[in-house]
Amino acid sequence: MFPAVSLLTTLLLALSIAGSLVEVDTSPITLPIARRLNVSKGTTNLLQSDKARVAALKGSQTGSIPVINDAAGYIAAVGVGSPAKTYNLIVDTGSSNTWVGATTPYVKTSTSVNTGQPVSVIYGSGSFSGMAYNDIIRTEYTDTVTLGKGLIITKQSIGVASSSTSFTNVDGILGIGPEDLTLGSLIKSPAKTIPTITENLFSQGTISQKVVSVSFRPTTSQETTNGELTFGGTDATKYIGSIAYTPITTTKPASTYWGINESITYGSTTILSSTAGIVDTGTTFLYIATDAYTKYQSATGATVDSTTGLLVVSSAKYNALKNLNFNIGSETYVLTPNAQIWPRSLNTHIGGSSTAIYLIVNDIGTPSGQGMDFVNGYTFLERFYSVFDTANSRVGFAKTSYTDATTN
Ligand SMILES: *[C@@H]1O[C@H](CO)[C@@H](O)[C@H](O)[C@H]1NC(C)=O
Ligand SMILES: *[C@@H]1O[C@H](CO)[C@@H](O)[C@H](O)[C@H]1NC(C)=O
Repeated sequence: MFPAVSLLTTLLLALSIAGSLVEVDTSPITLPIARRLNVSKGTTNLLQSDKARVAALKGSQTGSIPVINDAAGYIAAVGVGSPAKTYNLIVDTGSSNTWVGATTPYVKTSTSVNTGQPVSVIYGSGSFSGMAYNDIIRTEYTDTVTLGKGLIITKQSIGVASSSTSFTNVDGILGIGPEDLTLGSLIKSPAKTIPTITENLFSQGTISQKVVSVSFRPTTSQETTNGELTFGGTDATKYIGSIAYTPITTTKPASTYWGINESITYGSTTILSSTAGIVDTGTTFLYIATDAYTKYQSATGATVDSTTGLLVVSSAKYNALKNLNFNIGSETYVLTPNAQIWPRSLNTHIGGSSTAIYLIVNDIGTPSGQGMDFVNGYTFLERFYSVFDTANSRVGFAKTSYTDATTN
């Protein structure tokens, strides 16, 4: 018996006695995650690859899993097999398959079972910037997956990359999106879903709620382990006040993902009326419908920088920036002026000028009313704790000690 499991059992017993299983404050199932930014200048434009992902998310059909930029994102070290080999996987709420083998070859152990099923886990928009994302077929295995310090999931379905992939920075993806996103990925049984890591943790009795919580923080260095993923509950040490929940939107295609309704105001001006969009750990920037973006650009006086493609402001205009407010349910989540800019210490890492002030708000490429009018990427999630609750079909947010930090 692993210590983490006995600790959990003790905790669950204590909670059952207390008669409440609503919130596990200190879940033993926490996983540190590292944010990494490794965009090779001249070959990968961060905004371009981010936009390709957003385009794929918008065009979602069952079985079509969006592209992801492996050069930027939050990475979890996940063990597979017995003895476990560690793979570095991108934490992705926008897809639900877990796969390995892109850079570190998958090592078969006594727990590895080839199911004989081809699995298609990445659907892309062809190729762009020299990166091909299409026709990546993997072999399905079931294997033992180890999370954190000895937390074991048995018979977890994983895709194993057999041939070339476009990933050079990470070994694959840890998909923590809704299970239905796996529909269509088993090529021979397209009507079958694949139980996700979260589903299996729940069905194997390891967690008592199908909940995943994400703690990110604004980052000013290229690589740092400053995030945390919690399965089965929330970690009260990572947020301030209480978590407010909002239901998963009923509007398609946002409803396929961790989709919610929100409206956005810049200062006191509404730039996006209440509409559906998604929260996504696999997208870097913030995307809003074209009409909202146009209003934001003119209100901020920003111009488009030809090198990075991002909006850029002078320091005088930066000093005049107003809050960008996200109205979700009955709460308002505020991105301060500092939270609306790209960390200046990382400007040159995205091909920008060290002295420029780039904004993180971008154009989603279509007018509002398309059922996917915003993507709150991790530059948003670095300011708020987020909770993805499958059983109650809702997403929660809370403030953190970094919400108003002037780190950028
Ligand atoms: C950065 O990316 C390049 C390829 O794109 C890779 O060769 C290199 O190992 C990466 N560096 C880190 C620290 O991940
Ligand atoms: C979200 O907004 C749509 C219309 O924009 C509305 O029909 C729906 O009831 C709202 N709430 C949810 C939970 O979908």
